Amino acid sequence: MRKITIAIDGFSSTGKSTVAKQLADALGYVYVDSGAMYRAVTLYAMENGIISEKGFDKEKLIAALPSIHLRFERNRDSQKAHIFLNGRDVEKDIRNLQVSDFVSPVATIHEVRAKLVAQQQQMGLEKAVVMDGRDIGTVVFPDAELKIFMNASAQERAKRRYQELLQRGEDITYEDVLKNLEERDWVDSTREDSPLRKANGAIEINNSEMGIKDQLNLVLQLAKDRIAGRS
Ligand code: CDP
Ligand code: CDP
Repeated sequence: MRKITIAIDGFSSTGKSTVAKQLADALGYVYVDSGAMYRAVTLYAMENGIISEKGFDKEKLIAALPSIHLRFERNRDSQKAHIFLNGRDVEKDIRNLQVSDFVSPVATIHEVRAKLVAQQQQMGLEKAVVMDGRDIGTVVFPDAELKIFMNASAQERAKRRYQELLQRGEDITYEDVLKNLEERDWVDSTREDSPLRKANGAIEINNSEMGIKDQLNLVLQLAKDRIAGRS
């Protein structure tokens, strides 16, 4: 069967990784969470004094990039591949609000993007990949056979992410989460290098009032049609 590349972009907490992971499982494709890579670089900067109360030393982060090695690996007890930063599983450490607060400024740096985009393109060489992020359909895989752009109201997205963080035991408020989402959306859409925007040919899905099952069915049908060459 024909293998395709599927690019899923959109605003924060629109359900991209949920649908991308389920879609990859249904098709037997590899799922790559590109946001985890930007988060892991941010964690490295926080743990190595590059981001501190004193500020953010961009030049130091650029100089440190050759020492930052990322890979994805599926371990025995998890369905989803975890991200490893210099050999350490940081899947859990990258999801908190501290990392979320700094990740968008880190993702504006051209050198950071160039390094991660090259690795992402390498991971997609064989096709049969579903990757989600902000620039997958515009920059990483502009020739992807299927491009999706996800959106939902900020309030609905914040509600969903807040529930998720609460369940993980984070001490946060709904207002903190909403503020973080809106700030990231703004930085991600206005940055100079690879701003978040709907790629040419992308299909837009607004899931403010759509459940997880319905969004999967919709995207899975689109993927099957593209694989079969029906659309
Ligand atoms: O899951 P959530 O929407 O919270 O974010 P994420 O996908 O984990 O991405 C975290 C941040 O990384 C985004 O807000 C962007 O600043 C950056 N990012 C990016 O610039 N390009 C990508 N392809 C993926 C993420
Ligand atoms: O990857 P992204 O940041 O776009 O979003 P996500 O992590 O897949 O989804 C954020 C939260 O919204 C998760 O807790 C999902 O279970 C939830 N969600 C939902 O409730 N309904 C949807 N239609 C999509 C996602």
